[in-house]
Amino acid sequence: STERTVVRGGLVITAAEEIHADVLIEGSRVVALAAHESAVAESWTTGDARIVEAAGKYVIPGGVDAHTHMELPFGGTAASDTFETGTRAAAWGGTTTIVDFAVQSVGHSLRSGLDAWHAKADAQCAIDYAFHMILSDVNEDTLKEMDVLVEEGVTSFKLFMAYPGVFYSDDGQILRAMQRSAGNGGLIMMHAENGIAIDVLVQQALAAGHTDPRYHGEVRKALLEAEATHRAIQLARVAGSPLYVVHVSAEEALAELAQARDKGLNVFGETCPQYLFLSTDNLAEPGFEGAKYVCSTPLRPKEHQEALWRGLRTNDLQVVSTDHCPFCFTGQKDLGRGDFSKIPNGLPGVENRMDLLHQAVVDGRISRRRWIEIACATPARMFGLYPRKGTIAPGADADIVIYDPHAEQVVSAETHHMNVDYSAYEGKRLTGRVESVLSRGEPVITDRTYVGRAGHGQYTPRSTCQYLI
Ligand code: URP
Ligand code: ZN
Ligand code: ZN
Ligand code: ZN
Repeated sequence: STERTVVRGGLVITAAEEIHADVLIEGSRVVALAAHESAVAESWTTGDARIVEAAGKYVIPGGVDAHTHMELPFGGTAASDTFETGTRAAAWGGTTTIVDFAVQSVGHSLRSGLDAWHAKADAQCAIDYAFHMILSDVNEDTLKEMDVLVEEGVTSFKLFMAYPGVFYSDDGQILRAMQRSAGNGGLIMMHAENGIAIDVLVQQALAAGHTDPRYHGEVRKALLEAEATHRAIQLARVAGSPLYVVHVSAEEALAELAQARDKGLNVFGETCPQYLFLSTDNLAEPGFEGAKYVCSTPLRPKEHQEALWRGLRTNDLQVVSTDHCPFCFTGQKDLGRGDFSKIPNGLPGVENRMDLLHQAVVDGRISRRRWIEIACATPARMFGLYPRKGTIAPGADADIVIYDPHAEQVVSAETHHMNVDYSAYEGKRLTGRVESVLSRGEPVITDRTYVGRAGHGQYTPRSTCQYLI
């Protein structure tokens, strides 16, 4: 017989509504919601049902983090979270699905890149996972393979206008990939920074003896993010394809997205907690401390934060993902002492996203429903996982977080679960904390004890974008 679980007495919050309801789970799926203490809800609690008490708590869909880089080889090293440690940390932070980026190597097929990512992730994950594909080598074979991957459930492809010599695609390659995705339903995700111009500024900075981490922020100019964003939008219009711009940090880039959206185009934007909560002040911390905050696009001056919060309110930005790409301060970020351009790019954050965004609810920046929309429902729709993921409704996977909105916590590397030796938010006080987590009905965190296991997480093929206008 299928196991029954009842999540009882909490405030259920989805992108659509807030209701005091009990949730009935059978096996891995939600089967019904009913008013708390109604005759229907009370009838569920008889027999051998497992009861999860949620009185005074929020009952929310597990977070969907649509941008992670577990074990990514980068800058002569590799991101320090494995799929095992990274997905366990994600669960601790209330995220129950990640979409990670498989990487095509130059000269190799998409298939070999995808196989390599399955070899890293399969049987290792604590929560469910899916893949996007990074295109590093757009050619005739790559274009044909895109069609096959879309059919198989890898329905989004990241291209880079940055990092010449590594992941970079030129405008012709970008246009061809966009034309292909216009035909096959794939979604192009763009790293929008003018990497050719940035590399000139990097060389000029180093030649002038400007080697500290803060110069990473100075050479990767907001205008060069805006220029690339504009160019990506125009190329997508020419190709007739939708476009999703990842890790938007500059107000000027956001303005390009807003203008495109005002035209009614299928142009979407993602930002990340680091751009909402951190700034170039962190990059300029004394000594080499700023290396902890080196990522691309870079952190911006504080003024940009207000623009990004506004973008989240106006829906010019639809998704908050982490771009989780951790490198230890000792032994990895170190590689760039004396040359900021050799600091591996990326910040840890997969464990912190739901809590940081809840703090924005506490601070009155966004509503509770908008919190769930930008962190759960829209990423699920954007990347073809809805309504299995991203909501609590009959038929959905029972990926559910019991969230204590009153618990106080202090973020610290001493207590976090990510495999990285620092926290970008060290010492930050937050109100709200994950209490328990279910993944497909199975307990992963129970009353702040980890009870999950590597290998519970299943690979989840995706449909095409469900967010097109
Ligand atoms: O600095 C970052 N964002 N590292 C990860 C790779 C990428 O560009 O997303
Ligand atoms: Zn009660
Ligand atoms: Zn990127
Ligand atoms: Zn990334």
